[in-house]
Amino acid sequence: MTLDLFDDDDGARQAVETLAEGAVVLRGFARADGPYLMAGIEAVTGSAPFRQMQTPGGRTMSAAMSCCGPLGWVTDRRGYRYQPTDPLNDQPWPAMPGAFRGLAVRAAEAAGYPGFAPDACLINRYQPGARMGLHQDRDEQDLSQPIVSVSLGLPMVFQFGGARRQDPVIRVPLAHGDVVVWGGVSRLWYHGVLTLRPGDHPLTGDCRYNLTFRKAR
Ligand code: SIN
Ligand code: FE2
Repeated sequence: MTLDLFDDDDGARQAVETLAEGAVVLRGFARADGPYLMAGIEAVTGSAPFRQMQTPGGRTMSAAMSCCGPLGWVTDRRGYRYQPTDPLNDQPWPAMPGAFRGLAVRAAEAAGYPGFAPDACLINRYQPGARMGLHQDRDEQDLSQPIVSVSLGLPMVFQFGGARRQDPVIRVPLAHGDVVVWGGVSRLWYHGVLTLRPGDHPLTGDCRYNLTFRKAR
């Protein structure tokens, strides 16, 4: 793991950790944005509530999800896909708050991906016992743009592997405000999170939230 430094908005030096070619963790990059990000999550999920989706194989995902932006990611018995409407009410997904987009664009740029233009933001809510197994983010048509993943609340262990499911994985503890960005050669690499342990976070209570920004089309 290599370390580099960037200046945040206040001129403070912050750490950038390289996980793999094209993949970095920006430690604490979103920490100061926590309160408005939580307010945005509450606003979005007021109209597109958290729900536990079904995998194509018929399993219920342990993380609850919602989306905002022009496109949302959904899974059900028919498969994984992006669509412009929420299947719960057939209405367009809530707009992506401008501040969400701004944070994602700044993080992508700090990670070496200028000009990021996300059109989808998936919001995951993990409660104790929830996890996400190793998977690829490969339902996007535009693989030239990175994934920007923002962690809020309770800590969780992120796993980052390689191009094949059986490749070795590294385990990366993620804390409130950490942002992981992956793209380029590692854009399709396997990743996931281990089971969330119980805890209490001043901003998010017994949960961890994760925002992933993507350019889907
Ligand atoms: C994901 O890969 O969709 C979520 C990863 C995370 O929760 O950090
Ligand atoms: Fe993912």
